[in-house]
Amino acid sequence: MSLDFALQPSSHPASEADRAAALAAPAFGRYFTDHMASAVWTPGEGWHGARVGALEPFSLHPSAAVLHYAQEIFEGLKAYRHADGSVWLFRPEANARRFQRSAARLALPVLDEADFLASVEALVRADEAWVPVPTTEESLYLRPFMFAAEAFLGVRPAERCVYSVIASPAGPYFASGVAGVTLWISSTYTRAAPGGTGDAKCGGNYAASLAAQLEAREHGCDQVLYLDRTGGEGRLEESGTMNLCLVTSSGELLTPGLGTILEGVTRDTVLTLAGKFGLTPVERPVTVEELRAGAADGTITEVFAAGTAAVVTPIVALKSPEHSFTIGDGQPGKQTLALREHLLDIQFGRVPDTHGWMRRV
Ligand code: COI
Repeated sequence: MSLDFALQPSSHPASEADRAAALAAPAFGRYFTDHMASAVWTPGEGWHGARVGALEPFSLHPSAAVLHYAQEIFEGLKAYRHADGSVWLFRPEANARRFQRSAARLALPVLDEADFLASVEALVRADEAWVPVPTTEESLYLRPFMFAAEAFLGVRPAERCVYSVIASPAGPYFASGVAGVTLWISSTYTRAAPGGTGDAKCGGNYAASLAAQLEAREHGCDQVLYLDRTGGEGRLEESGTMNLCLVTSSGELLTPGLGTILEGVTRDTVLTLAGKFGLTPVERPVTVEELRAGAADGTITEVFAAGTAAVVTPIVALKSPEHSFTIGDGQPGKQTLALREHLLDIQFGRVPDTHGWMRRV
């Protein structure tokens, strides 16, 4: 039976002035809407207690498994306001299915796709006034997540889990945004290994990325580029919060294949859209030496990162302990910007949705 995320309206919503202030400068992940969706799972009752209620802190026993063993997963998707005022989600079914795969990997209970969609839609309906009117790419970022809430220190899958969705009005993820970002190719840290959790969207992956992120900052870079170093060649993986794509002079849109990286919804979207820009999508291993040499001889003309939060973000330069190099002339690539614009046009309803990706709330 489907869950009913019925609304119990908050008794203390933000004032119109506070909401307007948050919407006027929607820094990523800083402000939150009035409500949250939630449901609880136990082996006896399955999923129950579904509701959309006031945004409020969780009360957790200090032994709750998530606090010790990081049994947690999450998703990220956005709601977009179109020119006629209507509000739409972009490919939420893909997030629902990835959430199920992440749940299976972290031994968490699986949530039906229909319940995932119902929870997200119910929250967006409750907090519709928080969906920004876009000036550039502002949207309402939705964060579904699930965690082990059982009070028990033994190491086994928890028998009480909480599912929730919160929402935050969002502007560009990177301050430099479309001007392009710089990546640090870490030789200290790796992100994932075969059989690990690299393809799951779990909090632990992001916790483990923070030291590498600090290292990147120390070297004046915005983000980390992780390599798969098994075999010693250094194959490109992903950039922690984003998948990586390369444009070649022979007209390929080249990206590392799936396995130990996150199966990004934006990654899949740009691969699908590549043909429209005269590019052939190719998924195969790419070594860091191939990237460096290609940037030097011009066979790799553009590099960009793809992710829900980051949309399509140009990568203009890379640094490693051994090398420092720019892509092209160090400016955002033309194909990158065209793909980015087209994706935003689809998401904001400015061009026909020929792929059936948009879902009206
Ligand atoms: C997203 O793009 O939704 C992400 O997961 C990135 C986030 C960790 C900031």
